[in-house]
Amino acid sequence: MSLKGRDLLSMADLEAGELMLLLEEAARFKRALRAGEVRPSLRGKLVALIFQKPSTRTRVSFEAAVRHLGGHPLNMNASEMQLGRGESISDTGRVLSRYVQAITLRTFAHREVEELAEAAEVPVINALTDLEHPCQVLADLLTIRERFGGFDGLRLAYLGDGNNVANSLALGCALAGMGFTIACPEGYEPDEDILDRARSLGGEEGVRVVRDPREAASGAHVLYTDVWVSMGQGDEERRLRDLRPYQLNGEVLELAHPDAVVMHCLPAHRGQEITDEVLDGPRSVVWEQAENRMHAQAALLHLLVGEED
Ligand code: CP
Ligand code: NVA
Repeated sequence: MSLKGRDLLSMADLEAGELMLLLEEAARFKRALRAGEVRPSLRGKLVALIFQKPSTRTRVSFEAAVRHLGGHPLNMNASEMQLGRGESISDTGRVLSRYVQAITLRTFAHREVEELAEAAEVPVINALTDLEHPCQVLADLLTIRERFGGFDGLRLAYLGDGNNVANSLALGCALAGMGFTIACPEGYEPDEDILDRARSLGGEEGVRVVRDPREAASGAHVLYTDVWVSMGQGDEERRLRDLRPYQLNGEVLELAHPDAVVMHCLPAHRGQEITDEVLDGPRSVVWEQAENRMHAQAALLHLLVGEED
């Protein structure tokens, strides 16, 4: 099994076995980094990191991962590129392919990462679009695997907006063999095509949409939430009002499995989608989850463009 030369635009680009290989490689990288024994498999390679939206974790964890692997990150703010003045994504991809060995892009329309991947001759990685955030979910699954030793018999309950993170989680849980339940108000469901795809992977029963956050949380092994207003979304007042009943707080956490963990991709809006008490509480694994972004992305880059062992 090899991921060499591939793109990662959606969690659906991976088969279950490939996901497990990635998680195994991420765990291996994490151990090697702690032991000071990372093999520089990106030596002499350049990775372009393009951002059309703000980022803390994705930007720094990619840059750190590339450097740990002996490569060179080229961090680019799209507004300072010709991209910001109307040069096409395709032309940008063609040109960058002559300089670098991989490209990551954070942008708005998902179609843009697809266009970039079609034009580029090097692997393209989705660093978040309005539709998906697969790199986040690789780190989330790594964190769950560390905590529970695997995925069998586990269920993740996502409370709130059916956004990019929820979409990738639905696919990721289905691929990993975990149950996924989202509790959200009407009109805030994940993308319909993604739900269909997740159900084709994880079964009708394995991927559920409910209205009651208490129903979703009951017995769940992972409680997950994300912001109520994602980057680029308007209508803040309505969204905050509609999503208010879906807050991840101590009362909801009480209903979860006794070993349940709390996850959030961050940045958090404390007091909105999650309370301080829960985010900073003993069940929270959010800081491990954030650290795991770097390990998961190092594994991804190693498998896509790294030199073989
Ligand atoms: N979770 C995440 O992608 O964070 P950033 O927006 O800081 O990259
Ligand atoms: N759903 C959020 C995730 C941020 C990492 C957003 O798109 O803004």
